[in-house]
Amino acid sequence: MQTKYDREMTDVDRPIPETSLSAFSSFISGGMGLHFPLERFGDLTRGLRSAAKEFGFEDSEACIQWLMSSPLSERQIETLASYLTVGETYFFRDKAGLDIFEQRILPELIESRRMNSRHLKIWSAGCATGEEAYTLAILINTMIRDSSEWKIDIIGTDINSVFLQKASQGDYGKWSFRGVSDWIKERYFTASDGGKLRIDEHIKEMVSFQYLNLAEDSFPAFMNNIHGMDVIFCRNVLLYFNEEQAVRVVNGLYRSLADGGWLVVGPCDLLHVTSLGIIPVDFESPNLYRKGFPEPLLPTLPPARTPPSESELKPHPAPKPVTQIPKAPTARSGYGEALILYQAGQYDAAAGMLMEALSTGPDTGPAQERAKKMMLLARSRANQGNLTEALIWCERMIAADHLSTAGYYLRSCILLEEGRTEDAAGAIRQAIFLDPDFILGHFVMGNIAFARGARVKAGKSFRHTLRLLSRCPEDLVLSESEGITAGRLKKIIEIAAERKIV
Ligand SMILES: C[S@@+](CC[C@H](N)C(=O)[O-])C[C@H]1O[C@@H](n2cnc3c(N)ncnc32)[C@H](O)[C@@H]1O
Repeated sequence: MQTKYDREMTDVDRPIPETSLSAFSSFISGGMGLHFPLERFGDLTRGLRSAAKEFGFEDSEACIQWLMSSPLSERQIETLASYLTVGETYFFRDKAGLDIFEQRILPELIESRRMNSRHLKIWSAGCATGEEAYTLAILINTMIRDSSEWKIDIIGTDINSVFLQKASQGDYGKWSFRGVSDWIKERYFTASDGGKLRIDEHIKEMVSFQYLNLAEDSFPAFMNNIHGMDVIFCRNVLLYFNEEQAVRVVNGLYRSLADGGWLVVGPCDLLHVTSLGIIPVDFESPNLYRKGFPEPLLPTLPPARTPPSESELKPHPAPKPVTQIPKAPTARSGYGEALILYQAGQYDAAAGMLMEALSTGPDTGPAQERAKKMMLLARSRANQGNLTEALIWCERMIAADHLSTAGYYLRSCILLEEGRTEDAAGAIRQAIFLDPDFILGHFVMGNIAFARGARVKAGKSFRHTLRLLSRCPEDLVLSESEGITAGRLKKIIEIAAERKIV
């Protein structure tokens, strides 16, 4: 029975029973990948109390029961994430990681790209309010004098849409600048309202922000340009995940790297990463990993079987971490084996196998079979960061199957990435012509219009995408999306709309 004393106690005073915290900790571990062992129950309690208020509950325990009564909705996940994770970040945080970027990674990348694509792709995964992404842009700006002749894509993603909104605005208070030299502030910021500093437009243009839940979403993906990354910064994020989720996330990050791409994690993220078959580049830089160094480990291939259907390409579970080096597959292998390598992020090996299969396979074979191989080859090359070859294979694929919506779609994504917006628009128009209800087609059309500065047209395409999405179940995996669901795309567009993009 409740005593008067109980009733007078506020929720802040009343402890949440350990059994409830324990049950809730397991629940969010499964649903969100967040890791709250016993020693972090204090943090869990504090976060829960604040979240409960936002959900309209006076009593945190009642809120726990309510949250656990059904699978978490998008809204619940986002609210919980905003209270259970910390958005702590600031400009030029963790000097060691940035020194590596400035002194080791960037010079090599710039040197290798200067004579060809002049294109760099960098991902700040778990970017919070954007300071990390802008820091990377500033460092690049200090190193590339002729930056207007380069295409620099720095993409910041986070689970917290309020953070993303702040990142897009680019206004920062004093606390974001602890330890930042005055010359950086003077050179890259201007005074804004309330004593804040605003990031300069030319730095802002190098960076874009989008919603992505690392624990739930599929990546790499062409749709949102999360693939073929030269560098991924994922610092002070992995520590929130349980072991299983961390493994899944790091696998996804690894598969999102171009050949020779770099992964930089934070000092506290180390443990999770070393539990995988991915090994730090060297002793001096334990937070630094590189795709293909040491030699990539090829996944064990099952016995030859009939090629998988196209649908097998879509939602692919992350491959298990590889613990031993199996033999490389033989050249006779075809699409099915290449697909396994592709899904393991071994794009070069997949491409090699497909090239072999295409050059030795009978030319008289079904055109669609050859087209399928070419498509996977184009995807592999694009994921390696080799857009030129990806485009060639994409075009060959379209020549072999000129009714392929997927072919035109991939072609438009690659062209858009290359900054060839006119050509990208032509390709996506073809895809939509072939399938007027092709949801990703309308979405990409919106992205292209946006990239061309045609905001009204972009808004129209995004609204049409939302109309088409409203007819789909939330968990429907969208065609050609590599695992992105209808609900997720809706979310991505809605968050863009909040930032007045739509
Ligand atoms: C401490 S901040 C790190 C910011 C920045 N990377 C840095 O090191 O300064 C952690 C960020 O991870 C984000 N985060 C936590 N779980 C996430 C998830 N499942 N998917 C995406 N972002 C997540 C949080 O919202 C928060 O913004």
